[in-house]
This record gives sequence, structure tokens and C-alpha cells, in this order.
Amino acid sequence: MRKKLIAANWKMYKTPDQARDFFRDFLPLVKGHDRDEIVVCPTYLCLDDAVAAAKGSNVAIGAQNLHWEKEGAFTGEVNAAMLLAVGVTHVIIGHSERRQYFGETDDTVNLKLKSALEAGLIPIVCVGEVLEEREASLTDDVLRRQCLRAFHKVSAKKAVRLVIAYEPVWAIGTGKTATPQMAVDAHAIIRGEASECFGQEFADKLRILYGGSVKPENAHTLMSEEEIDGALVGGASLDPKSFAAIVKY
Ligand code: 13P
Repeated sequence: MRKKLIAANWKMYKTPDQARDFFRDFLPLVKGHDRDEIVVCPTYLCLDDAVAAAKGSNVAIGAQNLHWEKEGAFTGEVNAAMLLAVGVTHVIIGHSERRQYFGETDDTVNLKLKSALEAGLIPIVCVGEVLEEREASLTDDVLRRQCLRAFHKVSAKKAVRLVIAYEPVWAIGTGKTATPQMAVDAHAIIRGEASECFGQEFADKLRILYGGSVKPENAHTLMSEEEIDGALVGGASLDPKSFAAIVKY
């Protein structure tokens, strides 16, 4: 049995004050909840406050991105060591918004994944097809390519804490959710690729989250699928009550 992981991706929302308010209201709602792992990923600016607020609780803190270099002249960037230094344990890599708007490629995803694993962070690598690719029956090819290239020269031993998030781009922030069957089919492709790259035993343990318009109303149905190992939640994670309802599906 894989323990499910429910992660909040706050994207570019919330100031440090708002982040503190969130944790004040959210933590009591999920106190003692240990059926699932809970992770909240705020902006860089709120990480410090989030780590302080969640200290000693059942909630871990993740970042939404990182740079792969150890240090250097990379204006505006933050690396794995800096994230670890403020108490971050998880990091989202290759979110479709970063691929779409910030030039993230399969190759930078690979570099970021290697750097996160090397540093001991738990990477949540996002993959997923755009609408045109789904309509052209290219979903399988896209997912295989994204996984294969993300995993390039990564060993099963190093990747042991890897988490994947399947986020069909057409379902993000649109209110359109993939049907449980669509998600299950996509997860099976991803698991198959992980098995090719890292072996069956690794693939059996790999957690694959679903993301894309997860809400309190659909969380239970999605999370009831054995193949879906958790959720990566955008909009509905900004409100403490709504995110707690998803955690408790
Ligand atoms: P929404 O839950 O707002 O659709 O966003 C999903 C997502 O992109 C999480 O990373």
C-alpha cells in the first residue's frame, strides 16, 4: 500500500501574513491526520513563515521550483541548498506553468530533478499533456517522453523518494477534471515508463499524484482509485477549509 500524498501548490498567491493566517486555521483542521502525507508549497517568500508555522505538525513544506546549480550568477534563482537551509523538504519540478511561461524544458526538468535528489529533497515532478495532444491521441507519447527525459541518467537508488504528479494541462484551473479512468490510464503509462527506467519494484512503490481541478467535491472519487496516490491541488488549496476537506476526502 502506497501512502497517499496530498500537496497544495499555492502558485503566485498569498503574502507571508496570509500564509500565517492559513496555517493558523488549517493546522487544527488536520491535526492528528496521519492516513495521508500533507505538503504545502507556498512561494519562496513565504517558505520561512510556513516552515515556522508548520513546525512540529503533520504538514511538510515544499517549494514550487529550484535551480540546479550549486551557486552562481543566476539572478532571481534559488537552489536546493537554500531550500534545505530554511527547512523545506519537498520541491515541485516542471509544473506545466513553468514549461508554458518560463521556458522550462524536459532537459531543465532533468537537471532540477538530479539536483533535488542529490540534495535530499523530495521532488514532485509534473508531467501532462495539453489539449491538442490529447485530442490527437498523443497523450501516451507525451507522458513517456516527459518521463524518459526527466529520468535521464537518474539511478533507481537515487530516485527512491521521487514523486510524480500527472497534471493534464487542460484540467488545470479550468474546472475540467480528468475522469478517474483517464487519470488511472495516464498513471499506468507513467508507472510503465518508471518500470522501464528503474525496474518493476521501484515502479510498484512510486507515488503518482493527480492534479487538475481537484476540489472537495471530487476528491473522494479520485482518491478512491488505487492507482491514484494523492493529489496536487492548486486553487482549492488556498482556503484552509477547502484544502482540509480534500486532505480528509
Ligand atoms: P488547479 O487545482 O487550480 O486546477 O491547479 C492544479 C495545479 O496546477 C496544481 O499544481
